[in-house]
Amino acid sequence: MRKDMIQATDAFERVVHWSLAVSCIVLFVSGLGMMFKSFNFIGTMVGGLRILKYVHNFTGIFFIVSLVLSIRMWWKEAGTFEMPGDLEWMKAAGGYLWHVDNVPEVGKYNPGQKAFFLAVAVFGAAMGVSGLVMWFSTGFPAFAVRWMYVLHALGFLVLFAFFFVHLYLGTIGSPGSLPAMTTGRVTRAWAKKQHPKWLREMDESAKADVHAGGGHG
Ligand code: HEM
Repeated sequence: MRKDMIQATDAFERVVHWSLAVSCIVLFVSGLGMMFKSFNFIGTMVGGLRILKYVHNFTGIFFIVSLVLSIRMWWKEAGTFEMPGDLEWMKAAGGYLWHVDNVPEVGKYNPGQKAFFLAVAVFGAAMGVSGLVMWFSTGFPAFAVRWMYVLHALGFLVLFAFFFVHLYLGTIGSPGSLPAMTTGRVTRAWAKKQHPKWLREMDESAKADVHAGGGHG
């Protein structure tokens, strides 16, 4: 690896992230196709609304599996807040909304990313549960099934809105981030700007490894 690059994600993380992303996008598109008359043409494209429903439901299973793996994978770094550092970052809005001379340092994920992860975890789980109840509705009381439709629509609104913010920040909004999802290798300059504390910890643990290796070798 080039000296000015650092490994941000491993192959497993990238596969899980892509499965989550692709299944989520297929669910958005197929869901919209079933929900609104003006989007019914999406059903026509795949051979009818019945087939679109199968695509939606089975992609849902794929999404649930990806979500469980994502939660396991990201929980430690993106699911817990570190105080007071994260609070300081929030007070400065990470320097995204107004000029801040010294943006408080954060680890691998900043509090905005953590909020996104938590929204995906909570609303993604709500989508999975409500989707399964609607799919196997005969096993549940009618009033409960009706509420699941409401929950599913609410979850969609939240995830759809967050998705565009995430897409923007993961690409053009924060240049240098996308390789974390493709090759897994990011520049040290990007890591220093976006996740300085994490970079320092990585460097320290690399040094510790070298020392430990030297001691035994
Ligand atoms: C194709 C569209 C997508 C792109 C380009 C994209 C891009 C990225 C990038 C570059 C990162 C790493 C950011 C960093 O380390 O600073 C990331 C992290 C993450 N992505 Fe995506 N992503 C996409 C779709 C999704 C979808 C659909 C979801 C969830 C439904 C998702 C969930 C996450 C989560 C939970 C993280 C880790 C925590 C965070 O950064 O908030 N991504 N994404």
